[in-house]
Amino acid sequence: MSLKKGFGARMLRWYEVNKRDLPWRSHSKPYHVWLSEIILQQTRVAYGIEYYNRFVKQFPTIHNLADASEEQVLKLWQGLGYYSRARNLHKAAKIIVEKYDGAFPDSYYELQKLPGIGVYTASAIASICFNKPHAVVDGNVYRVLARYFGIDNPINTGPAQKQFAKLAQELLDSHDPGNYNQAIMEFGALQCKPKNPLCQQCVFKNTCVALMKNKVSELPVKKKSNPPKKRYFNYIVPLFPNQQTVITQRLHKDIWQQLYEFPLLESKTPMNIQTMGSNTQLPSWVEADSLYLYNEEPWVHQLTHQHIYTSFWIAPVTTPDPIQTVSITTLKTYPVSRLIDRFLHKFFD
Ligand code: ADE
Repeated sequence: MSLKKGFGARMLRWYEVNKRDLPWRSHSKPYHVWLSEIILQQTRVAYGIEYYNRFVKQFPTIHNLADASEEQVLKLWQGLGYYSRARNLHKAAKIIVEKYDGAFPDSYYELQKLPGIGVYTASAIASICFNKPHAVVDGNVYRVLARYFGIDNPINTGPAQKQFAKLAQELLDSHDPGNYNQAIMEFGALQCKPKNPLCQQCVFKNTCVALMKNKVSELPVKKKSNPPKKRYFNYIVPLFPNQQTVITQRLHKDIWQQLYEFPLLESKTPMNIQTMGSNTQLPSWVEADSLYLYNEEPWVHQLTHQHIYTSFWIAPVTTPDPIQTVSITTLKTYPVSRLIDRFLHKFFD
């Protein structure tokens, strides 16, 4: 018997019994589904619910989101990382309000013209909200299909991605694509988990190729990518008289674009008190003799292609305000990276 036959129906039956009661599942309104899908690309469901509720509370409709400032949106997104998603969320809301009168387009192709909406998100919205037959392929789907069908082609290569997209589309239940798509993702999240999958209580256990061949823990296969680039961020935290400090916005094309941070000195190798104190790129107001290191061990922020080693250098300054300063008490109102947020809490609270 073909492994594909009856797969969708079984998946849907499993979902009916096991699905989680999630806030965006009580109805299938495009604004709410879109919001949840963009958030879930950044974090797991348990953590994403909090962000979703915060967004819906502050911006109950797409009009409210479109009317917000970019800074408000970034502040609400703070902690999720990959801030271009938040900027695109805001841009797409504006376009939907201006060009589509606040109603999401129902076409898979039209949806993909919106910022931040690619193949995955368009499939999710088109199927869940408009009952259109487009299969989603996310990390969960790769895992479930790789294991069930015993596919060991590396999922981060072009040909394999085509193969999985084709297979996912063949398996899609075209009568109920929205629930089917949610079912397979839910199945990946709850049952066919990356670690410790629940194979002994699985409805697919008699036909799962990986289980039969004892390869569950080896699948899916990922090709090793290049080692991440190491970057060294030295933040200079100025302490001016009268509780004043300096904060600047990252405007260049790099991580954390548009977020705020302390004056930054980036280096190719780790810095110490001597190399910092004598560095020609130190701002002129830094009093090198007073400079001291806050964290002996750098804080490491790991992204897919880069690891950022961060040191915070505290710079007490005695001369008042040679440059534009802000009050330390206002720091928490700025959108900042999670790293800076952590520092603000540890150092200033
Ligand atoms: N992960 C991302 N989107 C999801 C959805 N709609 N259902 C289950 N898991 C998901």
